[in-house]
Amino acid sequence: MTVRRRVVVFASGRGSNFAALVQAQRRGELPVDIAGLLCDKAAAPALALARAAGIEAVALSPRDYASREDFDRAMFARAARLAPDLIVLAGYMRIIAPAVVEAWRGRMINIHPSLLPKYPGLHTHQRAIDAGDAEHGSSVHFVTAELDGGPVIAQAGLPILPGDTAETLAARLLPLEHRLLVATTRLVADGEAALAGDQVVRGGQALAAPLHLDANGNLA
Ligand code: GAR
Repeated sequence: MTVRRRVVVFASGRGSNFAALVQAQRRGELPVDIAGLLCDKAAAPALALARAAGIEAVALSPRDYASREDFDRAMFARAARLAPDLIVLAGYMRIIAPAVVEAWRGRMINIHPSLLPKYPGLHTHQRAIDAGDAEHGSSVHFVTAELDGGPVIAQAGLPILPGDTAETLAARLLPLEHRLLVATTRLVADGEAALAGDQVVRGGQALAAPLHLDANGNLA
């Protein structure tokens, strides 16, 4: 019998990517145990989604801690109690202290709404439109101390259409993000993709470029 990998998800808000992971798991498309959801905001709608799904949901408030790093240490200590093999940042909007990130190197991934290395940070959709880009997308990467700078595992892209606003673009991207996050979480949880040094390896081979989500939701 294979042991199912344990995944803990961090989110800050709506939680649609978290919900996509839960739904994929329930459909049998993501063979992991989703052991818990951690939020940095007590009002995050993601918490209610987790509770409705019978998944342990925990909110800690940064205001209750003396420093950013103290908060991060508390969050990750709480996560560690759920014994995750993998932490998935799914719309988690805080920068994590480098010392805390390092402890989870290779065991933490993040979804970011741009074709990294383009547009780390915030307002990615607007920045892609303002730059006149023809294409936009989302990336899932291993988390390292550099903000949105860790090795990219996989991406999903879509064209920017005339008249797109940040809102229309984000709305068209979101379903792709859900499929991208599910597929990449499956790959990393399976150990099929891993971080070796500063490179993503798949089946023992360093990836020359990020994997791409195809129309069937597979990564190639
Ligand atoms: C997603 O678009 C995700 O890429 C983005 O937040 C959204 C979360 O949506 N993440 C970041 O911007 C991380 N810097 P959700 O709460 O519905 O999953």
